[in-house]
Amino acid sequence: MLNSPFAYKMARNALFKLDAETAHTVTMKKLRLMAKMGMSKALNPGVADAPVDAMGITFKNPVGLAAGLDKNGECIAAFSDVGFGFVEIGTVTPRAQPGNPKPRMFRLPEHQAIINRLGFNNHGVDALCEQVKQARRTTTLGINIGKNFDTPNENAADDYLHCLAKVYPLADYVTVNISSPNTKNLRELQFGESLEQLLGALQQKRLELADQHGHRVPMTVKIAPDMDAELLPQLAETLVKFGIDGVIATNTTNSREAVAGHKFAGETGGLSGAPLTDKSTEVISALRAAVGSELAIIGVGGILSGDDAAAKIRAGANLVQIYTGFIYQGPPLIKDSVTQITALG
Ligand SMILES: Cc1cc2nc3c(=O)[nH]c(=O)nc-3n(C[C@H](O)[C@H](O)[C@H](O)COP(=O)(O)O)c2cc1C
Repeated sequence: MLNSPFAYKMARNALFKLDAETAHTVTMKKLRLMAKMGMSKALNPGVADAPVDAMGITFKNPVGLAAGLDKNGECIAAFSDVGFGFVEIGTVTPRAQPGNPKPRMFRLPEHQAIINRLGFNNHGVDALCEQVKQARRTTTLGINIGKNFDTPNENAADDYLHCLAKVYPLADYVTVNISSPNTKNLRELQFGESLEQLLGALQQKRLELADQHGHRVPMTVKIAPDMDAELLPQLAETLVKFGIDGVIATNTTNSREAVAGHKFAGETGGLSGAPLTDKSTEVISALRAAVGSELAIIGVGGILSGDDAAAKIRAGANLVQIYTGFIYQGPPLIKDSVTQITALG
């Protein structure tokens, strides 16, 4: 049975013999092929339908694939087939870019964690749009947009507006990623004037696009876990002011506290997985306390079990996403998460 926890463990043991990025490339190729041959549904561990309404969208179930795993939108059908209730592709930038030099992705199995400094390696927004147009679409699709590494922050809005216009007719929701630690100074866009200017420009552009295409596409903003808790209410207020529909909390962390002493702890990049679980849940709680029901919250960061997923919902998230947990646990984690969330009633 391809969809059992045992089968995933076997596959993982083989994949973990390869370096992290090679394992990723090999898996994506296999998944794409399986989807083409109609075989990827065999990986679905029997995830139940558990519809959830948020941001004006009905999601098949509340557990989604987080951005960064399918940066170019090459496996949309496969990730839907394995059971995710929604799939977020990207981060995509206006122009293709190679990202940082390799190695740039490290597994820390002792901590069920990953450190990555990929740096938005992607084929560019035009290539992503072509993939989406050709994809078998059976699930809610989020498209996560960013800026090229060589676009200065003063001109960042141009990159986001360019991507928004391109993906608008294809996305069920669009995520504005201003929280990757691997694009220099990107996180500065989360604060003050820079944030207001960016969100103002995006709000205006979205109005024009809604007019042009005859429908309004929800927009979310993805934030970092590393900001002062006191800044969260102000950030949430700004998001609401500019008509943002949801917030994705959180991206990876710069902190190494939880993995101190590990041989990869000194590697630059964002840390994800178990060391992030509590931190991201705390951000969700603080956000929910600050905004009431005005914003949808997509909780992400360190979901390694169904209980972790349910804790994010209890903290105030409407939906959750998974990346690192999926690498360590595979599709059975989706089923577990949906089951535990459904049990909350
Ligand atoms: C290898 C890797 C690449 C990632 N790339 C992106 C990305 O391109 N855009 C983005 O918004 N988040 C990216 N993320 C962050 C994840 O979407 C997620 O927010 C974070 O890893 C925390 O969730 P997790 O603990 O379930 O992995 C990446 C994470 C990893 C591990």
